Amino acid sequence: MLTINLKMENLSFKDVNQESLEDLLRLYNQNEINIYATGIDRPMSLDDIKQKYLEVLVNCHEFFATIFVHNSESGKKKMIGVIKGRIDYDNNDEAWISSILIDSSYQNNGIGTKVVKSIIKMLKDTYDIKVVYIGILSGNRIGRGFWSKMGFRYIRTIEQYIKLNNKNEDFIIMKKDLKKYP
Ligand SMILES: CC(C)(COP(=O)(O)OP(=O)(O)OC[C@H]1O[C@@H](n2cnc3c(N)ncnc32)[C@H](O)[C@@H]1OP(=O)(O)O)[C@@H](O)C(=O)NCCC(=O)NCCS
Repeated sequence: MLTINLKMENLSFKDVNQESLEDLLRLYNQNEINIYATGIDRPMSLDDIKQKYLEVLVNCHEFFATIFVHNSESGKKKMIGVIKGRIDYDNNDEAWISSILIDSSYQNNGIGTKVVKSIIKMLKDTYDIKVVYIGILSGNRIGRGFWSKMGFRYIRTIEQYIKLNNKNEDFIIMKKDLKKYP
């Protein structure tokens, strides 16, 4: 696994590990909208998530990190999100963020923005990444707004990529050129 060791203000990242899988499962299954982050047309099972984790664990190109918020008064921290992605196998100066998910009660507070900005900065500074790609399902209106706001631009559509809730979803690829938009 490609380790993400980042801290910013009251947020920190921690690589997914065996102990975090059950909390992560609860997060993924928090609501139906999260199928946009899982790409699976049903609640995730512990086996699904173990499978994802083991695939990443043996792969030094891939990252899979949970996001924690710290409460300065109680000193406690709470898992409120997850981000997953990889450095491209063929083009080592390109990376993909394959999914990001923020706990619904923490959404729309700027956390997703901070998380993506710091991951992109790390990819650029540490791995000399020049281009970052994301893929998003066409029905995910909020997600599309989110990535546009983050400076990602439309590249192409893969039509009828997957069927979710009996509806064909296209897969939209967007990219951000880090040389042009630091
Ligand atoms: C997409 C997601 C990660 C955004 O995280 P977040 O912490 O809420 O994002 P931010 O608060 O930083 O919002 C940044 C921008 O995203 C868009 N956005 C976020 N939530 C929105 C909402 N409920 N309605 C409309 N736009 C929204 C807005 O453009 C917002 O900018 P603004 O605050 O200036 O209006 C979060 O909504 C989520 O986890 N969604 C479910 C999973 C998913 O779809 N992931 C993306 C595909 S992998």
